[in-house]
Amino acid sequence: MSTQLRPTDVKRLNRQWRRRTEGRIALIVESVTQPFNLGSILRSGAAFGVEALWLTGNAIDPTHPQVGKTALGSEAKLHWERLRGSAEAARAARAEGFRVVAVELARDAVPLHEAPLEGDVCLAVGAEDHGCSPALLAEADALAYIPQIGRVGSLNVAVATAIAIAETRRREWQDPDRAAATDAAGAEVMN
Ligand SMILES: C[S@@+](CC[C@H](N)C(=O)[O-])C[C@H]1O[C@@H](n2cnc3c(N)ncnc32)[C@H](O)[C@@H]1O
Repeated sequence: MSTQLRPTDVKRLNRQWRRRTEGRIALIVESVTQPFNLGSILRSGAAFGVEALWLTGNAIDPTHPQVGKTALGSEAKLHWERLRGSAEAARAARAEGFRVVAVELARDAVPLHEAPLEGDVCLAVGAEDHGCSPALLAEADALAYIPQIGRVGSLNVAVATAIAIAETRRREWQDPDRAAATDAAGAEVMN
């Protein structure tokens, strides 16, 4: 019968996955205004080792008291910076070596599972109501959408962000050579 891992086991497991991870991930969050959405993005970002976050437009500030309700302390673990424009943020990300991939249901976007997510990637997401701005889409190096099959217009922005970050990590983690090393180590924690 399985049981939940204890917190110390989770820490060890996380350490092992960290050793298997080299790719850098950053985020551009444009005009996300709801505190629970930004909090959730910060928590996913911290869990998956996002190293930098650029906030643009009228995105809510991570220091807003209500952000902490979903961020649960992760707001203090991420380096973030506020820039006025998203195009400016995309250029800043590129200058730091990231390929900027806008995650949006946009014309000419490719399905996320076919998107160029290898290496160092900065994922950009847009506002709850009107999505990524034309300036952000124009400045991105690539555009990716998450395929949907239900009768809904779009995903919640925090959910879309978590899916895109997880897919970016999965690309690196599915590498068979890295998998062999970590699976052996992971078995120690699980058993
Ligand atoms: C709620 S959506 C924006 C609303 C949408 N543009 C509209 O007008 O209905 C907020 C953000 O979530 C992300 N998003 C949501 N669903 C997505 C999907 N299926 N593929 C890619 N990005 C998605 C995008 O970054 C988008 O800008």
